[in-house]
Amino acid sequence: MWVLFDLDGTLTQSEEGIWNCAKYAAEKMGFPQPDAATLRKFIGPPLEYSFRTYMGMTDEQAAEAVRFYRERYTTVGMYENRVYPGVRVMLRTLWKAGAKLGIVTGKPAYPTGKILEYFGLDRFLTTVVCATDGHAEKEHLIREALPENPGEVWMVGDRCFDMEGGVKAGVHTLGAVYGYGSEEELRESGAERVAKTPREIIGILCPEAAPERGAFLTVEGPDGSGKGTQIERLAEALDRFGYEVMHSREPGGTPIGEKIREILLDRENAGMADETEALLYAASRAQHVREKIRPAVAEGKVVLCDRFLDSSVAYQGGGRELGIDEVLAINAPAVDGTMPDLTVYLDIDHRTAMARRCAASEPDRLEMEAESFHARVENGYHELIARDPARFVVVNADRPREEISAEIARKVLDRLMEMEK
Ligand code: TYD
Repeated sequence: MWVLFDLDGTLTQSEEGIWNCAKYAAEKMGFPQPDAATLRKFIGPPLEYSFRTYMGMTDEQAAEAVRFYRERYTTVGMYENRVYPGVRVMLRTLWKAGAKLGIVTGKPAYPTGKILEYFGLDRFLTTVVCATDGHAEKEHLIREALPENPGEVWMVGDRCFDMEGGVKAGVHTLGAVYGYGSEEELRESGAERVAKTPREIIGILCPEAAPERGAFLTVEGPDGSGKGTQIERLAEALDRFGYEVMHSREPGGTPIGEKIREILLDRENAGMADETEALLYAASRAQHVREKIRPAVAEGKVVLCDRFLDSSVAYQGGGRELGIDEVLAINAPAVDGTMPDLTVYLDIDHRTAMARRCAASEPDRLEMEAESFHARVENGYHELIARDPARFVVVNADRPREEISAEIARKVLDRLMEMEK
């Protein structure tokens, strides 16, 4: 089976870049700034057509506007873009099921190639056919993309141009109603089927295929290492690349786990035995693994978890001095083999981290521990990293936030894309 995709509005949500570039071209041409309704129409049709039809330019003016548009688009605009959530798992699942995937787009080859490479979507594609001067019609692009006797072929797109082109080229048509065209537009222009999400495309084209496995990521570090902020930013970066992110945290993450969390962090429970503490963290984790982490990863999601087993090893094994191997043993039935694919460690001296932490708000029961406790926690983490360096992405966390988040996003995305091969 061949599945040909339109790019803008079908795989990528590209309005930000397109709109910024259309506004830039209007300004350079001395035309009034297009309003939101006009800008919306720019996604899909050839640019010259849009400048002429929606902004009242002459042929010559439209050609010049396109030059201005491209000047900004090929440098910044094309990266002001995001992959729709679920597109990655959809492409991977179809690809693993043996479908041949391709792109047919009215965009020129240079930005198309850059965008596909930037988002790491190129690895799934057998063919990429772009507009060349004078040929932006989908029917021709579709014919060009296919070998002789291709068998079953589907054209997936979000606008009437895609559906009409598919019908003319004699292939099946699937309308992506999450894109820029309405369901009505797509049905009227010949869509045989419509999908409300990229995931629904799997169900329509390959109903027997189970979604490809997602990933399990954890973020670790001492109290005050800035985990909260960095997790939010990483989630945003993953989302932009089309991963479906599920946030979670430990202790907690499930209703039962959140109740256990209250007991653990309650400052009144000063008499808690170290072993009780370690077992409660493990109990919360056992529930979390079964109720939340495993099902989400099996569905193709990326679970992004604030702390996991490594925290127990560092805090109870190191901080409480129960011992690394003892804590791993307590946790073996809880995790039952479910380990993170990748762990980001925010590396910061425990004193610097604690000073930051105490400046932010009231410390909880564990944070109130003596400095020597936090020193042992830090050592516990370093021991873990030394035991399993391949799993960790260690990032210096004593720097400006933006630098840290840029490094984390780059390294984590590289590793995730590597796992998709
Ligand atoms: P939390 O409010 O989540 O702190 P932070 O925002 O710093 O992560 O509280 C979690 C506390 O529990 C934190 O001090 C670390 C500790 N902890 C353990 O001691 N063992 C564990 O297994 C886990 C998951 C957390």
